[in-house]
Formats: sequence, C-alpha cells, structure tokens
Amino acid sequence: MTLQELNASLHDCQRCKLAKSGRTKVVFGVGNPNASIMFVGEAPGFNEDQQGEPFVGAAGKLLDKLLESAGLSRSQVYIANVIKCRPPNNRDPEQDEVDTCKPFLLQQIELINPKLVCTLGNWATQTILEKKVGITKVKGQAIKLERFVVFPLLHPAAALHQGNLLDTLKDDFKKLKAYLDRMNSPAAQASVTASSPTAPASGTPQSQLDLFGS
Ligand code: URA
Repeated sequence: MTLQELNASLHDCQRCKLAKSGRTKVVFGVGNPNASIMFVGEAPGFNEDQQGEPFVGAAGKLLDKLLESAGLSRSQVYIANVIKCRPPNNRDPEQDEVDTCKPFLLQQIELINPKLVCTLGNWATQTILEKKVGITKVKGQAIKLERFVVFPLLHPAAALHQGNLLDTLKDDFKKLKAYLDRMNSPAAQASVTASSPTAPASGTPQSQLDLFGS
C-alpha cells in the first residue's frame, strides 16, 4: 500500500465514535512523503478539522517558527497526528480512539520510513514509546528505537497556554538542531561508514552518531 492509498482508505473513516461527533475532515498528514524527519502531534483542533491539514492554527504557526529555528521547513518534513479526527471541544483523545487510530500512524511511519520521529507532547510520546513516561522526563533527547530515533518535544499548544514553557520548547528545538547538525556532520558520516555501528538497546537514549549515515 502507498501513502496515498492509506490516505484514501481513511478518507471517510467510520471506525470510531469521532466520525459521528462533529468531525468535518479526516486529517491524515502533510509534507514530504520521503522525509527523514517526521513530527507527530496529538489530534486535530478546530482549524485542522476545517482545513484537513495538521498544525494550521495557532500551535501550527508556532511550530513553523520552531521548525525554522532548527533549519527545517514544512515541505521538508512530514507532519501527522496520533489520531486523525478532532475530538469534540478539543478534549483529550480517549483510549479506544487511540487504539483504533494508532495502527494507521504506525503504517504512515512505516511507509515514510523516517530516521527521526519528533513527538510533540505526552500523547504522541507515550504512543510512540509505548510507555507511560512523562514528557518532561524525556524531552530534548534522542531515544533510539529499532527502526528510528525518537526525539520528544513539548507540545507547541502547551507553550501557548503556559508562557513559561516557551523558552524550554525553544531550547529543545536548539537541542534538536544541534543533534541534526551532529548527525549530518562529515565526521559523523565518516565514522558511520568506517565502522559498523552496533545499535544500542531499544528504548535507550542514543549517544552514537548513526542517524543520518546509515
Ligand atoms: N495540535 C495537534 O496536536 N495537532 C494538530 O494538528 C493541531 C494542534
């Protein structure tokens, strides 16, 4: 199945109760289908539901600025959410909704095959790590999983609601930029091709420079 086919298969999804609770559009995802970096948020909000595109409201405008600060653009990365339909009144996703939609996020990740997945907020982080871990404990660091590296970040909407989190989020995007710069440095590329890297145990913070070279 291609990414387009997966998108089409969810166009009028009726698999969970969100289909009947005021959803306007299924928000599949947007960006470069061959991206090596993917961002995963929680769920569409009002604007996303209207436009059918993730992160187009206030949190999206902040995300665009943060991407720019890390030397990234929307067209370079791929952006999706854990759940593809807006929960009524932007309430938290419920477990059955996550359980229903998660396989499609995983399929999306498999088809795009990114090297780095930046999770935005608790929901995306816990869904991808499959662990009940608080975002403040793991944010701003690279965690190697079997198929890709996870880089958890605070959710931009949290920084909009709690202004004191904005500097932390900006700092973590600086850490992301530093990480990308290290991965893309000639030294990192050479060290990867010169040696056969042994992957650290799944779910542990990554210290090896083996992200973009392998
Ligand atoms: N918040 C999210 O988690 N996703 C969006 O697409 C918009 C806001």
